[in-house]
Amino acid sequence: MNVQRKPLEIQDRSHLRTGGLMDAHARTPRLKVTVRIDDNLETSRIEVHGVVSAANIRALYVVCRRVSTKLPDHEIVIDLAHARVTADAIEELRERARLSLLSSGIDASVTPCRLRIVDPPKHHQNQRDRMKAHVVYDSAYGNTKSVAEAITDALDGLQATAVPVGDFNPGVLAAGDLLVVGSPINGWRPTPKITELLSALGNGPLKGVKAAAFDTRVRMFIHGDAAKKMTHALRSGGAEIVSEPMPFYVKGTEGPLRSGEIGKATAWARALLTSAGG
Ligand SMILES: Cc1cc2nc3c(=O)[nH]c(=O)nc-3n(C[C@H](O)[C@H](O)[C@H](O)COP(=O)(O)O)c2cc1C
Repeated sequence: MNVQRKPLEIQDRSHLRTGGLMDAHARTPRLKVTVRIDDNLETSRIEVHGVVSAANIRALYVVCRRVSTKLPDHEIVIDLAHARVTADAIEELRERARLSLLSSGIDASVTPCRLRIVDPPKHHQNQRDRMKAHVVYDSAYGNTKSVAEAITDALDGLQATAVPVGDFNPGVLAAGDLLVVGSPINGWRPTPKITELLSALGNGPLKGVKAAAFDTRVRMFIHGDAAKKMTHALRSGGAEIVSEPMPFYVKGTEGPLRSGEIGKATAWARALLTSAGG
């Protein structure tokens, strides 16, 4: 018997205790799963679509646990062939499969279960199709935004998006992605929002991610440095740095950008693409 159930949309809602409903929907990537049951082979295959990350992995465990409760003799196959998976999430799933222990998804309990993982596509195959670029920026007067957009446009062929820092969800980062972070220098350092993001990224989501940072600044004798500090934070968080920090110059405090800086951003983005292997 081969039963295909209707695709199911799941999302980890455990953090609703602390966050609002809107926030949870905006920030936690959804997964679509289809459960196929083969009684002859005694397997239940859970086919996953979407980005699996630490933010939603528990929801996947809940589905596995439901299947294993109904069909305790079945091997559960978590099929990630159509999913993107963050480095920490795939490590965790492989460890569960190695130990043959299924997490409840709700509390810390585990139960024995035959578990097999079908790996997600390797990022070095068809790299351009798979690699996503996230250009995350903060900007008060629009100069850093203009540089971020020029970089995004030049990352030809990748799925590249320029995202204001307040809208960026670190849960979308997957191993092999390119992350570019840009900030104006404010008092010799990145803006508070960018600093906050970088410290949040220090907890795992940068593993396997390629990264680079740029800043915008005025041309003066002492201007401080933000791109260098951001690059350092990205490296400490586990990212593979693919470029030296890059400064872009504005005229006066509010800009506009000095002439030639958009062309420089385009050239830098192309160099990033080459060093990131895209
Ligand atoms: C509060 C404040 C502090 C700043 N501090 C620095 C600084 O330390 N060094 C520097 O080169 N530019 C500094 N600037 C200039 C900014 O870097 C410039 O405004 C920025 O590049 C504009 O980018 P945006 O349009 O994306 O906000 C400062 C600007 C502001 C408003």
